[in-house]
Amino acid sequence: MAGATALVALASSPALTAAGPSDIFQSVGDFLKSQMDKLNGAITPSKATQRNQYWNEDILKRWRPSGSQNRSPCPMLNALANYDILNYDGKNINATSVQFALENMLGLRGAMLKFLMRAPGHLAEIHAENHPDKPKNPDNIKHGIFDLKDALKHNFIEHDVSLSRERRTAADPERALNVSKKRLAKLREFAEDGMLTYNSIAKFRKHMRAEEEKDGLQPPMHFSLDNQFKAHGEAVLLLEVVGRNGKIAIDDAVYFFEHERLPPNFVPLPPSSTSDVYMIGRLVQEFSLFNTLQFLGYNSMSEKQELVQQIERELQAVPQ
Ligand SMILES: *[C@@H]1O[C@H](CO)[C@@H](O)[C@H](O)[C@H]1NC(C)=O
Ligand SMILES: *[C@@H]1O[C@H](CO)[C@@H](O)[C@H](O)[C@H]1NC(C)=O
Repeated sequence: MAGATALVALASSPALTAAGPSDIFQSVGDFLKSQMDKLNGAITPSKATQRNQYWNEDILKRWRPSGSQNRSPCPMLNALANYDILNYDGKNINATSVQFALENMLGLRGAMLKFLMRAPGHLAEIHAENHPDKPKNPDNIKHGIFDLKDALKHNFIEHDVSLSRERRTAADPERALNVSKKRLAKLREFAEDGMLTYNSIAKFRKHMRAEEEKDGLQPPMHFSLDNQFKAHGEAVLLLEVVGRNGKIAIDDAVYFFEHERLPPNFVPLPPSSTSDVYMIGRLVQEFSLFNTLQFLGYNSMSEKQELVQQIERELQAVPQ
């Protein structure tokens, strides 16, 4: 949260709120960029090459297209089911198999794994809500049993300003199940020298947020801080786990989203490389990048203040 707190402190400093000429924002922007470059330099991935014992290349040959199977708005969950690491039919998935997949197929450990492992229990509760007719079995919640489609619940895993989906609307609540070729074509425009980076994803999100804000669909777009952190976490998964070291070839990213299939040269992260400092540092970096771009993109003082106040309000609401 350090990046967010610094942003709030800076942007609400008396010098800023009292004055307001655009060169002040320029210098704030320059300052934030230099801080971000420092952060970028400070977090270096491990060079470990050790592999986990489960993994071998043959697993990649198990991929099958999903056809009409039960699937979610999350490309990674869907991909794991397409390899039958999570049940191929997308039903009755449990926490144990999610943890197995995240650890062995992707190589996740530490805080990132722990955070993601909060999902199955919630998904099991959503599953019970979605199936009021099913006999209640407390063990289903305990074991975190859910279907992939349960992840459609708005603002849990599924959220606005997606990298690969058109946003959910009241008229079409299942719209986020399908990958959007239009959005992937737009994402492609943000690649730099053929690669997606934290910078390109932050810029793409800023662009899509503005588009969704004025799309006139109901309910209106809402990209809360909570959803931002999930979205930035997805960027970390994409650029560190599907890709590596903060980037992925745009062709590989589009392939992953379009087919819900890992790129052909994929290997899991080596077990010792997912240091919490590195992964969380990247997440905060993406949060700061996104909000700095947003901040600098606003023309009026009141818009800038509104963003800062919103961040302040939402940070206060975050459970410590
Ligand atoms: C979890 O799912 C796996 C794969 O379907 C299955 O082998 C295992 O028995 C399940 N565990 C529980 C507690 O339901
Ligand atoms: C989503 O994809 C399915 C399967 O390809 C298709 O039947 C459905 O019409 C699509 N929905 C939307 C909203 O595009």
